[in-house]
Amino acid sequence: MSRRMAPNGHPEIVPSMLAANFADLGRDLEPLLRAGVKWASVDVMDGHFVPNLSFGPDVLPALRKGRKVFLDAHLMVQDPEKFGPVFAKAGADWVTFHIETCRRPRALIKKLQGMGVGVGLAIKPKTRAEELIKYLDVIDLALVMTVEPGFGGQGFLTGMLPKVRKIREAIDRSGRKVWLQVDGGINLESVAAAAEAGADSLVAGSAVFKARRPAAAFKTLEGLAKKAFKRSKQRGGRTYVSSH
Ligand code: DX5
Repeated sequence: MSRRMAPNGHPEIVPSMLAANFADLGRDLEPLLRAGVKWASVDVMDGHFVPNLSFGPDVLPALRKGRKVFLDAHLMVQDPEKFGPVFAKAGADWVTFHIETCRRPRALIKKLQGMGVGVGLAIKPKTRAEELIKYLDVIDLALVMTVEPGFGGQGFLTGMLPKVRKIREAIDRSGRKVWLQVDGGINLESVAAAAEAGADSLVAGSAVFKARRPAAAFKTLEGLAKKAFKRSKQRGGRTYVSSH
């Protein structure tokens, strides 16, 4: 059973390996782990669901070798029923798939949780929050894409903030410990708005790995997210009993 982290009221900045140096992903990750990164995201693209290709399952054990890091596999693939179990077997702590590509999401969620991984459900910008909210009773992570999936380095879609807020309210009402993750265009300008809307897992690729000093960029983003998330808790009247 994976020992993955549970939501604990503290937002996590999650570096996206898509923006790292493909010639040496581990070397790029090391300074971030030393700076306090606990969780990294591996964007998996199949060239069908999105017009890009990225990582296969072997990246997970390679990245994890000799490192203490939680890894989520974000499957931007046409066939998550096929690839979900592959990435679960390869050691992902969370496997996240898109509701737009799955005919029987509950069955796949159950199967993957039975393999010991946390399961995330992702929605693209044009997909309504309700399509995800209806699965809050069973998922471990909700991912709201804040760019059109497929490429890093795009601009944050501020129009997604109401959707983040709506899902945050639904998670709080459910009383379940579900991460609310945002992915795409998270940077110094957008991180506070995303955290204040209720995101407690914020995937950042370019803003971290393309920064002159990635570890410092991570710490700055983390500080901004923590301050902003506190405001969101006050607004939502949310209190957390830390799970650690
Ligand atoms: C889009 C990818 C990106 C990436 C983050 O499919 O999922 O969102 O991880 O990229 P940045 O942080 O550069 O937007």
